[in-house]
Amino acid sequence: MSTVDQRPLADPEQPEEPTNRPAPRDRFREWIARPYARRIVILTVILTLLIVPVAFLVLHFMNLSGGPASPVMYEIEKTMFVFTVVSAPLMAVTLAILLYSLVGWGRVKAKGLEPPMQESPAIRGNSTATVLWISATSVLAFFLVVWGITELATITAYSYGSTAADQQPNSQKAVVVNVTGQQWVWTFEYPDEQGITSPTLVVPVNRPVYFNVTSLDVVHNFWAVELGIKIDANPGAVTNTGVTPTKLGTFNIRCAELCGLHHAYMETTVKVVTPEEYQAWVREMGGKRMA
Ligand code: CUA
Repeated sequence: MSTVDQRPLADPEQPEEPTNRPAPRDRFREWIARPYARRIVILTVILTLLIVPVAFLVLHFMNLSGGPASPVMYEIEKTMFVFTVVSAPLMAVTLAILLYSLVGWGRVKAKGLEPPMQESPAIRGNSTATVLWISATSVLAFFLVVWGITELATITAYSYGSTAADQQPNSQKAVVVNVTGQQWVWTFEYPDEQGITSPTLVVPVNRPVYFNVTSLDVVHNFWAVELGIKIDANPGAVTNTGVTPTKLGTFNIRCAELCGLHHAYMETTVKVVTPEEYQAWVREMGGKRMA
């Protein structure tokens, strides 16, 4: 291989003799045979094996509130988990080098010793290592791009924000909800149910829900956490999104746009109920209104 560095040595004390360099493959073998390199590789493997269950745990605790409650949120969580697993080895190798440098070399320093001089050619400029690193990271990056584009298309199809309310997927008629944000509360109006309004969102399970979102004052952001939808609520404009809740339960709705003093408290709930419970709730709310 013609990877020999022909530049003159800057430092005559440098132990590396460019003209005598062994082949990159041999240099790589020699490098991996060094105790510190082997320890870093082992540490990388251990950390990778630790990061994956931690990712599982994070997802578990995220779901204590009952999600994912829609296909959109299911896809989002799947993507977060896959991305975490794919990036785990890279995070692990970075952590391994950091930990080894701090702990391993730190101990050498603590004993009043100097770290050893470089004994043999550095991994830098090694074509085998360079080709390996660039190919592996390129494959990973390409995988993430393809995955991201595919998932984005799936999620967009599931949340049908650009589809009119009467052209929703499935033959079922969508439940239309007008969402209004204002400092610092949410109001949900049901135009097809005698215009009943509620400070909490109630929707039937397994039926598309279509949202017209707006604001009375500043920019808010309507975020139904476990349903996996999030869209800006702008004053003077209507934004649309939609979702089909697939799980019964009570989930969180938050404001996801800094909108003033009580932004952090601008939250409410969405209750996903059976169709019968939904009809009963609509009757109850309508009754109250007419009374
Ligand atoms: Cu409304 Cu933050």
